[in-house]
Amino acid sequence: MIRIFATTLAAAALLVACAPERQVSGRALYGDYCASCHGTGGTGDGPAAEGLGKAPADLTTISARNGGSFPMVEVMSTIDGYTRRGDRASVMPELGVALQEGPLVMFDTGDGIATPTPANLVALANYLKGMQR
Ligand code: HEC
Repeated sequence: MIRIFATTLAAAALLVACAPERQVSGRALYGDYCASCHGTGGTGDGPAAEGLGKAPADLTTISARNGGSFPMVEVMSTIDGYTRRGDRASVMPELGVALQEGPLVMFDTGDGIATPTPANLVALANYLKGMQR
């Protein structure tokens, strides 16, 4: 009886350990939502880039184009769709809703105030940060 309980507990712990991993993998999210346009490597050469009418941005040069620092908050709001909401000239889809699923994490945007932010959005922005050349 105790053994069965221990096994159940171990299985539950495993589930708990796996679930957040699946939801907050920046790489997996990027592959699912972004690579089709921005390309696997982020340079803007994804299979859906052709015929968009506007070239997807090269995501590996965001820091280089921003004086060498990664504009975390701007990038997050671009992904979220907030920055360009209602901008008809933009072909970048608004992905906020899809990325808001899942857990929230406390995220400090640099002003010392931690705000509950979708873990998916933070993971994705961190993944892009790691992509910078
Ligand atoms: C349908 C194609 C498409 C998809 C899918 C897409 N984007 Fe974009 N993205 C674009 C285009 C095109 C631009 C260029 C600016 C514009 O038109 O809005 C852009 C611009 C951006 C920018 C601004 C870059 C800069 O240098 O200012 C960021 C950041 C970005 N995308 C991140 C993402 C992320 C992260 C995802 C996945 C969650 C994603 N995009 C999915 C087409 C796409």
